[in-house]
Amino acid sequence: MTKAKVLVARSIFPETIARLQAHFEVESNQADDNWSSAQLIEKLQGKQGVFTTGSERIDGALLAACPELKICANMAVGYNNFDLDAMTARGVLGTNAPDVLTETTADFGFALLMATARRIAESEHFLRAGKWKKWSYDMFSGSDIHGSTLGIIGMGRIGQGIARRGALGFGMKVIYHNRSRLDAALEAECKASYVGKEELLKTADHVVLVVPYTPASHHTIGAAELALMKPTATLVNIARGGIVDDAALAAALRERRIAAAGLDVFEGEPQVHPELLTVPNVVLTPHIASATVPTRRAMADLAVDNLIGFLVDGKPVTPLNPAVLAGR
Ligand code: DGY
Repeated sequence: MTKAKVLVARSIFPETIARLQAHFEVESNQADDNWSSAQLIEKLQGKQGVFTTGSERIDGALLAACPELKICANMAVGYNNFDLDAMTARGVLGTNAPDVLTETTADFGFALLMATARRIAESEHFLRAGKWKKWSYDMFSGSDIHGSTLGIIGMGRIGQGIARRGALGFGMKVIYHNRSRLDAALEAECKASYVGKEELLKTADHVVLVVPYTPASHHTIGAAELALMKPTATLVNIARGGIVDDAALAAALRERRIAAAGLDVFEGEPQVHPELLTVPNVVLTPHIASATVPTRRAMADLAVDNLIGFLVDGKPVTPLNPAVLAGR
């Protein structure tokens, strides 16, 4: 039987390539070259599957130019790089990598919250710059985590993980806003209460964003929402660039309309709004919330499982548009 052909669009663990090679003819990008969409289309000619990492845009134009493509397997839980409607219309399956990164990403969300509220990055830069000449009582005073109110926007699995950490580990009062309310048992387990978005923004001491990016969630936090937040509040975005209006946030931080922000994702990343690079009260990290070695391996493995599951066995593990399977 001839092997299906698979493209790996970005550099990845050698073991991941080896696993794929056991089943497919593989072309990979271990040099991690930045392919334009025209180059990606060229590389995809004759390929039935592609391993993507979340940064490659799969849209109608690409699909029209790659008629043999059958599956795009994202090594990410987010899949806003996929035009899922266009994929479904063309009978192309999309898969993502949920669950395996939940706890790691929730850990990071909490770490970023603590670094932001307790001004860890800002004070470290001060120390490294040789500016620490004497201690003073108000040096880098931040805000408390324990006993404060944590507002979570987006209460999927990662949001729930952050809620548990806040409520059980730090005695926080947890409020959340989500498209749909959790069932009572899950709310009780997370010790979280459902509130409207406006109430959350007005009452939370710390706001953490964990919503998926869609046209409807674009600029969930803009100037109007920032104006509702407490001047002492912290905002953390581990969701996606575009959930926050970065220009409006930079202005609010500069004018101290909120106390601080922690951002792992940015509009137009890897570009970062230049104003964000100059304000001191923001902690910036390069989209690394799921970046631990075991979790990144598990994410890569799940993408491979999906490619094998679909192209070899006809049973992908985490399909995003199962309608495609029904139509086969
Ligand atoms: C995800 O899985 O969506 C993370 O943002 C890593 O890309």
